Amino acid sequence: MSRSFSQLRRHAALLAAASFAGAILLTGSNAFAQQEEAEEPQEATSTFHHRALWMKNPASETVLSWTTREEGHNHRIYYDTESRGGDISEYAYEIPTFADGPITMKDADWEWVEPAFYHHAHLDGLEAGTDYYVVFASDDATSDEFYFRTAPGEDVEFAILFGGDSRIAGSDPYEHTDRQKMNLRMRQLFEDHDNIIALAHGGDYCMLADWRYIEPWLDDHELTTASDGRLLPIIPARGNHDRGVGFEEKFTWPDFDRNYYYETQLSPAVSLITLNTETSLGGDQRDWLGETLAEVRPDRRWVLSQYHRPAFSSVRSTQDGAGRRNNWVPLFEQYNIDLGLESHDHALKRTVPIRSSAPDMENGIIYIGDGGLGVPQRNPDTSRWWLQEPGFAKSVHHVHILNFGHDEMHVRAYAMEEGEDEILDDFTVPARYGIAAGQ
Ligand SMILES: [Fe+2]
Ligand SMILES: [Fe+2]
Repeated sequence: MSRSFSQLRRHAALLAAASFAGAILLTGSNAFAQQEEAEEPQEATSTFHHRALWMKNPASETVLSWTTREEGHNHRIYYDTESRGGDISEYAYEIPTFADGPITMKDADWEWVEPAFYHHAHLDGLEAGTDYYVVFASDDATSDEFYFRTAPGEDVEFAILFGGDSRIAGSDPYEHTDRQKMNLRMRQLFEDHDNIIALAHGGDYCMLADWRYIEPWLDDHELTTASDGRLLPIIPARGNHDRGVGFEEKFTWPDFDRNYYYETQLSPAVSLITLNTETSLGGDQRDWLGETLAEVRPDRRWVLSQYHRPAFSSVRSTQDGAGRRNNWVPLFEQYNIDLGLESHDHALKRTVPIRSSAPDMENGIIYIGDGGLGVPQRNPDTSRWWLQEPGFAKSVHHVHILNFGHDEMHVRAYAMEEGEDEILDDFTVPARYGIAAGQ
């Protein structure tokens, strides 16, 4: 495929964003055709795929990442706490990248996409709860101004988006209309709910962690950026379709020392623990989970865990989750996590509150999932004990908003489309365990 082909696809994705005005529009083949004549060549080091990644301490640090078509040699971020309109001479701070390199090309990639280069910059020492205005720069090419908001430094009410499974179904890496619609939906929710600070993505971004799939995923991720340039930071979990070096080239950070399991302090009152179902569940990871829960639980009102493959699946064999149930769930129950965030099965679900392998309406833990950010949905097995009322499961695309209050956590699942039936699930979790939970 020629460069203009891949650029054409890219512009088609961005066209959908440009067309978005309160209604969600499809990106169809006509859009591709219309764009063809307007196509302009990319600058050699033009920056694209602008995005933000959150790790351990998003109140004070963020990784900003982007792509260029040519290698370049001087990659950096200009940033400030006030808008400077993109004039790089005006920004108070400048920081170089910590990781740059050629994106790995597999043999099959050449048919679909052009080679490109990844760039990652680590901004540290940031002020909590603050808007940072940024320009991505590679050699002489500079981006428009974007901004992101750091996580709150105080115990205030806020929300995150949670969803998983944005991979496409077939072999054509550009057949991904539902993912685009879900990304536009997330953008709308991000714009409508000013207190949303990030997206926790439960894994399975693409069919494979190869560039022909990752490039269109990154194109589509740009659709989540708000119309005023606000970036939606990703907190990534690794799925079974993400087991390749391409995933590590897409999501990385400076002190990357564990295999995509880490704790994110979302606020002084909220911790999100991301686990990795694609490596050993026991051993080092389980030890780390126990130590981390012991450390954070006493100080946090809300402790959640996200990981790709479910402990309490909605579609796959119930035996499929035994590894998570044996290795992790006992620790979740010992330390009373407040919600489990699961993906992988491709249906919407909420379990009954569960403790000791049985429903426990008083003290159980609820698990939600199971991945609906564009992947074709499957038919769940609603006969399972953990999916009985008030739990349920159904086959429908979805994304959750988790709102962390002082007395309760409000969980809502939103459908792909706006309208009367847009709320697919709606419940609250009381702050029943308090800050002394697990003691
Ligand atoms: Fe999946
Ligand atoms: Fe999966």
